[in-house]
Amino acid sequence: IGNKNDSVALCLNTNTWVSARAWIAKCSRCPGHCVGQSVSLDANLHDYSLIWLLIVADESPAVTSGSDGAFIYFTADRKLVFVIRNELGLKGSHLGCEHGVCGACQVMVDGQVVRGCLTLGVAVQGKTVDTIEGLSDSGQLALLQQAFLQHNAFQCGFCSSGMLISALDIVRHHPDADRDEIRDLISGNYCRCTGYQAIVDAIESVLKAQRVLPTTQGAAA
Ligand code: FES
Ligand code: FES
Repeated sequence: IGNKNDSVALCLNTNTWVSARAWIAKCSRCPGHCVGQSVSLDANLHDYSLIWLLIVADESPAVTSGSDGAFIYFTADRKLVFVIRNELGLKGSHLGCEHGVCGACQVMVDGQVVRGCLTLGVAVQGKTVDTIEGLSDSGQLALLQQAFLQHNAFQCGFCSSGMLISALDIVRHHPDADRDEIRDLISGNYCRCTGYQAIVDAIESVLKAQRVLPTTQGAAA
C-alpha cells in the first residue's frame, strides 16, 4: 500500500486522473459524491498496488455524525464489514462467525440484505450501503426497535443489529408473513440468548401494526 499523498486517482465522474492529495482536499467537481479507484506506486516494491478509494456522500446518515464526508483507503481484499467497522468506525455491524453463517454482520447494499463478512468492500463501488446506524433514522426500523424493546427480544444484543436488518427486510418485502414464515426468514440469524420466541413476537407485532398481517391473536408460537 503506497503513501496516499503520492497516489493518483481516476475520477470516475470526469474520467481524469487527479492527485489523491487534491482529492482528499476535496475535488470541487464532485465533492463527496463519487466513488473512485486509486492506484498508488509503492516506492519500496517498485510496483503498483491497487488501493480502493471510497468517497462517502456528504448526506449519508451513516457517516455524517461529526463529519461532512470521508475518504477511506482499503486494500482490495478487505471485507465490507471490516471497512465499515475499522475504517468508518461504525461498530453496529458485528462480527461473529466471519464465514457467512450467523448474520451478525448484515448490512443492506442497494436495499438488499448482504453479509458483510462475505462481501468485499470493492464490490460495493457505486452502491448504497445502509448500516444499522443509518437505518435507525427510518420509521420502519424505529418501529422494530421499539417492538424489540417491548417484547424483550434481545438480551446480550450481539445478534440484534443483524436481526433488525432481517426484520426490516421482512417488513418491507414480506408484509404478509406469518409466524412460521418469520421464523424461516430469520433462520439465517443466530441468537444465543432469546430462543427466538420474543423476536418473532416483536416482528409479528410490527406487521400487525401496519395492518398488513391479519389479526392472529393467540397464534401458536
Ligand atoms: Fe458474517 Fe457471521 S460474521 S455471517
Ligand atoms: Fe444475545 Fe441474540 S440477544 S445473541
